[in-house]
Amino acid sequence: MGGIKMKVNLTEMYVDEEIKNAAMKVIESRRYVKGEQAREFEKEFAKFSGAKYGVATNSGTSALHVAMLSVGIERGDEVIVPSHTFIATVSPLLHIGAKPVFAEIDEKTYTMDVNDVRKKITKKTKAIIPVHLYGQPADMDAIKEIADEYGLIIIEDACQAHGAEYKGRRAGSIGNIAAFSFFPSKNLTVAGDGGMIVTNNEEYALKAAALRDQGRVAGKKYEHDYVGFNYRMSEILAAIGRVQLKHLPEWIEGRRRVARLYNELLADLDIILPFEKEWAKHVYHLYVIRHPERDKLKEFLKEKGIATGIHYPIPVHMQPAIKNILKEEYKLPVTEKVAKEVLSLPIYPWMEEEKVEYVANAIKEWLRK
Ligand SMILES: Cc1ncc(COP(=O)(O)O)c(C=O)c1O
Repeated sequence: MGGIKMKVNLTEMYVDEEIKNAAMKVIESRRYVKGEQAREFEKEFAKFSGAKYGVATNSGTSALHVAMLSVGIERGDEVIVPSHTFIATVSPLLHIGAKPVFAEIDEKTYTMDVNDVRKKITKKTKAIIPVHLYGQPADMDAIKEIADEYGLIIIEDACQAHGAEYKGRRAGSIGNIAAFSFFPSKNLTVAGDGGMIVTNNEEYALKAAALRDQGRVAGKKYEHDYVGFNYRMSEILAAIGRVQLKHLPEWIEGRRRVARLYNELLADLDIILPFEKEWAKHVYHLYVIRHPERDKLKEFLKEKGIATGIHYPIPVHMQPAIKNILKEEYKLPVTEKVAKEVLSLPIYPWMEEEKVEYVANAIKEWLRK
């Protein structure tokens, strides 16, 4: 290929004057927690996600933890989860004393294999946690059918799927409750760690709001109805999130543009590209390709100045922390194979066409070797 070497980041973050001003206004207001910014962000983000209630938290992990407790997950309950996900989908279950039961993923979409979910149900199963991985919703109708049949709760892990759609419905509005993350790499960020629970169920929303605020029900300052946590979102971050939310629809289209371009440039090569289901609006938090010699390709791209990621190299059921607790052998051949082959390419809403071309050309050059 030759030519100029570019530096291509895996992701880029957005900062503008409005964001800086929003943060500065909160600093000057001297109201840093439990104020108007988080309250308004909750309303706006819930509305965006097609849900009635929003509960802002200090991370996606705490959003998942509180969501699980709000729907009544208890010690000894079994909860079906994918293993091809970030560990935080699973770790709150272990803090509760519930048991994660790992299901396979679909080899094309990398989201839960619904047939395997059905096989993993026992009398102790209480809930299913579909993860809308990389920004594509899991097959929610099929999961709902199983949940209805067995009386199970659905907790959506929508940490990577702000604004993603399943048959026209937004991620977060389909299950009983959902968790989002605003970690700095996510499609919407708050210049720090942050998260949000959304739900259409008032009871869950009230309990979640109390749990993330030391178990206090709104309006009660000195009485604690639950043993809760301090999982509140700071006002500065909420103010930043509100500005970011205004840009999110245009950013989603930007990511989809980059994904389309990659799809065109990388078509008909000896690599597996992302597969967008006909019922999905994928928001491409990550653009993930697959190749059996992933590590060599990653190294080659690094030499070209191209940053890539691996989401995730070790399935959760193979993590030492999880194995030590569960002491159970799982065989998840699709998950284990995919973990060895996935590679996340650079993507962000405003990524220039020439950078996408540069990445695609580098991949082609490597494949020709
Ligand atoms: C699928 C998934 N679940 C949970 C989390 C946890 O979110 P956070 O890092 O905000 O705690 C993340 C993001 O890191 C994620 O990608």
